[in-house]
Amino acid sequence: VKGGYDSFMRKEIHEQPTAVADTLRGRFDTRGQLMLDELRIPEAELRSIDKIIVIACGTAAYSGHVAKYAIEHWCRIPVEVELAHEFRYRDPIVGPRTLVVAISQSGETMDTLMAVRHAREQGARVLAICNTHGSTIPRESDAVLYTHAGPEVAVASTKAFLAQVAACYLLGLFLAQLRGTKFPDELRETVAALQALPDKIQRVIDTEPEIEEVARALADEESFLFLGRHVGYPVALEGALKLKEIAYIHAEGFAAGELKHGPIALIEEGQPVFVVVPSPRGRDSLHSKVVSNIQEVRARGARTLVIAEEGDDDVVPFADVIFRVPQTPVLLAPLVSVVPLQIFACALATAKGLDVDQPRNLAKSVTVE
Ligand code: F6R
Repeated sequence: VKGGYDSFMRKEIHEQPTAVADTLRGRFDTRGQLMLDELRIPEAELRSIDKIIVIACGTAAYSGHVAKYAIEHWCRIPVEVELAHEFRYRDPIVGPRTLVVAISQSGETMDTLMAVRHAREQGARVLAICNTHGSTIPRESDAVLYTHAGPEVAVASTKAFLAQVAACYLLGLFLAQLRGTKFPDELRETVAALQALPDKIQRVIDTEPEIEEVARALADEESFLFLGRHVGYPVALEGALKLKEIAYIHAEGFAAGELKHGPIALIEEGQPVFVVVPSPRGRDSLHSKVVSNIQEVRARGARTLVIAEEGDDDVVPFADVIFRVPQTPVLLAPLVSVVPLQIFACALATAKGLDVDQPRNLAKSVTVE
């Protein structure tokens, strides 16, 4: 059943190029225009949306966090990301022009379902992004965009996350196409780049042996920090979550800009710190700021594990270990940069002799509030 792999999680990590390719398949015409016919929400309504609220939990919420950066940039629609269990207890401002996007692998997460019901009671349109056909959340939503990751067995989500992120891009590109965008060239390039992503994800997976070796060497560490900025921030959060869930190691993700506002006090000799470095071809000076962050934590004794694009030589002097990922447009980078973190967590938990597929205290779908 595990197809020759020692765990479902590892198998599912290896299935990620296919999960993303299958989620993209059939959703573009030959000219690269998006066709999301399955969104049964009338186009006039989609044109008049003035706010998007993403509701989800855990890893699914991090995919929504990536979606916020992409959709706000491409579509100029404000996007809020809310943990589903917080949403209905804070008197959210929801109206007929709000699109609520509920993201769930299982489609059965009770917290997310209750938030969907609450949003619909308030008059919002609800679109589900879901991996499980016929599950409750899509049934109770106005429309559904299915991810086609295939069944996910391991409790820790991997391929479903990549498929959720890909589906969020599809939604953002579709809305931009429908409503017009200030960046038509960028959008065209993004569509082409998205279709090239499955191969790039595969290239990261091909580096698994090197990542595993590093993970084995760090198996006795008690704490890891993860830093990222822009779309690298939710990637850092996801990297930390994977390590907590399956390796039972204290791990925390931060927006790298927060370092000097507190977390840098945690850095002491030998502290391992992952840093997700934005593309040097990105906007503003983000890349150089994150490179400075690597320098700052290293100067205080941290051991730096750096996720950086191929060809980014600026990180070399300050990195103890570099995990390379192929070059991608900035907003699409999470689909490659999260992969080394997944592999790392899986390898480290395996090295500790833990059951990576069935971590203690956790269930695959959380059907209680
Ligand atoms: C993390 C993980 C959980 C789920 C969360 C939402 O690896 O598996 O954080 O992402 O419980 O589950 P779904 O997507 O089924 O609603």
